[in-house]
Amino acid sequence: MQQVYTENLEHLDFTGLALSQKILLVRGGQSYINCGASKVLTEKLKDREVTHFSGFHTNPRLEDVRKGIVLLNESGADTIIAVGGGSVMDMAKLIKGLSGQDSDPGQYIRGSKKLKENRNIKLIAIPTTSGSGSESTHFAVVYMDKVKYSLAHQSLLPDSIILDYRLTESMTPFQTACSAFDALSQGVESHWSVNADPQSSEYSEKAIKLAVGNLVNAVRSPDHRNRTAMQEAANLAGKAINLTKTTAPHAFSYYLTSHFDIPHGYAVALLLGKFIIFNSRVSDKELSDRNSSRQSVVNKINNICGFLGAESPEDADFRINCLLKDCGLESDLTKLIDLESEFENIYKSVNIERLKNNPRLVENKNELFSLLTGQGESEKQC
Ligand SMILES: [Fe+2]
Repeated sequence: MQQVYTENLEHLDFTGLALSQKILLVRGGQSYINCGASKVLTEKLKDREVTHFSGFHTNPRLEDVRKGIVLLNESGADTIIAVGGGSVMDMAKLIKGLSGQDSDPGQYIRGSKKLKENRNIKLIAIPTTSGSGSESTHFAVVYMDKVKYSLAHQSLLPDSIILDYRLTESMTPFQTACSAFDALSQGVESHWSVNADPQSSEYSEKAIKLAVGNLVNAVRSPDHRNRTAMQEAANLAGKAINLTKTTAPHAFSYYLTSHFDIPHGYAVALLLGKFIIFNSRVSDKELSDRNSSRQSVVNKINNICGFLGAESPEDADFRINCLLKDCGLESDLTKLIDLESEFENIYKSVNIERLKNNPRLVENKNELFSLLTGQGESEKQC
């Protein structure tokens, strides 16, 4: 069971965390100082031997994970503290999961070997962004030879998390928006996932409602209330996808991030509304889950529309576009990339066979192309 502390990091009594004497601190670079964590943790950990690990690539690469494992072994640390955004969390989870194994990390990432439990290392996660919810998931993204993998194992789930909204205050409005849209998208995708269950649906419903209600204000006029709400939304969305995983918008977004440098949450949000429409038009033959029904998928999407304050899937798409615009972001993907010529590459970048957790099979390429290029869209004003 994960322990959750929602307190001011400075006032938190660290004795409850039962920290070991030697600690590996996995953290961001300048952001670790700017967010205020450096000042607080230097004081809190002054009697312990702390080895710092930072300076790795934003999206964790295997070569960086190897460096982290070497540092963990050399330091003799029994506790890893992760302070940062989703990539820092993932890096710490990978170091924990892949250290102390019998074979080379690459074999576990490729799936040719199964991870064994690594209970000797305690992992404490302190997020400084409000988006990925990675502090509450048991999987981590890792790149090997530029190919994206997701390593999943229960031992990757952090043992304790500390949620202090003050650490998110140094995010720029753009960073706040990108992470907020990641949380919103993860909530929506979890809610319609074929793996959704009553527990995940409760988490995702709360996450969507909190995100929609606070996202724009957290970007334009941040205060402790909307920052706390966005932190909670991100954490709930993380808990939701921990049970369901993400679906089509995430799968298609990775190409936009890796080829056009569109930040992750923003890239997913650019696709989210179109997939709300796409999934709502599912036919019986296109159900990913053969035990499900067209009506149950439609019901879930109607619920999502309700959480978004929308009257229909098309209205939900319009509202998401308005949220993007209200945050100062371009909402039209065709204005950011040459979608006509890139569509085939985007479609090919996704393993459609592995996309079975999206409620609708993503086989109707022409329909998806029309939706993404905005054909037949009305010119409503926000
Ligand atoms: Fe995400």
